[in-house]
Amino acid sequence: MELTVRPAQLGDAQRIWEIRNEPASLAVAASQDMIPLAQHVAWFNNKYFEDKDNVCFVAEVNQNVVGYSRFDLSGDHYLNSIAVSSSMHGKGIGTLLLGQSVAQLKTDKPIHAEVRKYNLASVKIFERNGFQKISEDDKNIYYQLI
Ligand SMILES: CC(C)(COP(=O)(O)OP(=O)(O)OC[C@H]1O[C@@H](n2cnc3c(N)ncnc32)[C@H](O)[C@@H]1OP(=O)(O)O)[C@@H](O)C(=O)NCCC(=O)NCCS
Repeated sequence: MELTVRPAQLGDAQRIWEIRNEPASLAVAASQDMIPLAQHVAWFNNKYFEDKDNVCFVAEVNQNVVGYSRFDLSGDHYLNSIAVSSSMHGKGIGTLLLGQSVAQLKTDKPIHAEVRKYNLASVKIFERNGFQKISEDDKNIYYQLI
């Protein structure tokens, strides 16, 4: 399996919307609301293309987008959000997408991630990529990569 990680283009918006709306992604999302495609495209364009502070990468297998890794600037750090299409889970894509997107981001700023405690696949990919636990509460583990 050949995996490519590249910066997202505006044309990736629909595929990202599809992956974000898969049940496995929605289950861990901040909001479970179904966002209409047109609204998502407008948000995506504004967030990652009009606003140069935020960066989104996608993973491709055979020219098909199978996942995304977003870095949203929040004060002095980035907050990462990542998902892989559920039919492709467990093949190492999340681990590689996270590592390669961090490398391509080329930032000195810390990168944070908030992971649901029960989300063991997510815990694995962040810990494998060197993220360190900074705190936790009832719901989440908070990771940072410096
Ligand atoms: C988290 C996510 C990106 C991981 O992607 P992936 O491509 O499946 O990740 P990988 O294959 O690189 O690694 C996942 C690891 O977790 C393991 N895993 C998967 N589901 C698991 C589960 N329910 N319990 C324990 N381990 C699990 C896999 O076996 C694999 O470990 P292994 O390589 O030792 O076998 C993907 O599951 C996803 O998109 N989930 C929905 C969205 C999400 O949770 N995003 C993160 C929000 S912080």
